[in-house]
Amino acid sequence: MRLVVEKADPDELYELVLSLVVPRPVGWLSTVSADGVPNLAPFSFFNAVCDAPPVFVVSVSRRDDGTLKDTVKNLLKTREAVINVASEELLPALEKTGEEVGPEVDEFELAGLTKEPARLVKVPRVKEAKAFFECRFVKRESVYDYELLFLEAVLVEVRDEVIRDGSVDYEKLKPVGRLGGPFYARAYGPCKIQVK
Ligand SMILES: Cc1cc2nc3c(=O)[nH]c(=O)nc-3n(C[C@H](O)[C@H](O)[C@H](O)COP(=O)(O)O)c2cc1C
Repeated sequence: MRLVVEKADPDELYELVLSLVVPRPVGWLSTVSADGVPNLAPFSFFNAVCDAPPVFVVSVSRRDDGTLKDTVKNLLKTREAVINVASEELLPALEKTGEEVGPEVDEFELAGLTKEPARLVKVPRVKEAKAFFECRFVKRESVYDYELLFLEAVLVEVRDEVIRDGSVDYEKLKPVGRLGGPFYARAYGPCKIQVK
């Protein structure tokens, strides 16, 4: 299979690129609108870009009608977010929060998730999640139709239940990565490869 980008069908290109850049971590972002409505959405065009302080980038497309997604609107207004780390058992709920719904919809309720207060930002966290980055919005860059949002962590928290001997216990955190099509990968388990 070979696609010349200029001539390729956009849907085919999208599927192929997303099938080859794998596994992608998923940033599950909670934000709050200017009116105080909580929002939760997953983004797999997501990664850490530096560590001291920790800074993350999330790349968000526009909606089909060209408008900004709620996460972008909220970050530009209220300038705070929590990146919730999704465990395998939360994938059905995570998928539910990826549905495109209006700004008045609270995706925590839509997906049957519980809010818990964050410690340093005024954005709720997903109580069912086991790790969090509480973040402030740093800056926005535009690349073609995507908005790149840079988030700086002010707090990194992992629940005690997933820490063993001072390290993250992957068997308990059960982190996941996004593959192409409908697939996710387990970022833990018997195929774990240890180097050095
Ligand atoms: C696993 C997963 C990964 C996603 N990754 C992205 C992404 O990287 N960029 C993006 O714009 N949308 C992505 N989406 C779609 C958004 O989550 C979806 O458009 C969502 O409704 C946006 O919500 P908002 O309008 O509340 O911000 C993804 C959806 C899922 C389920």
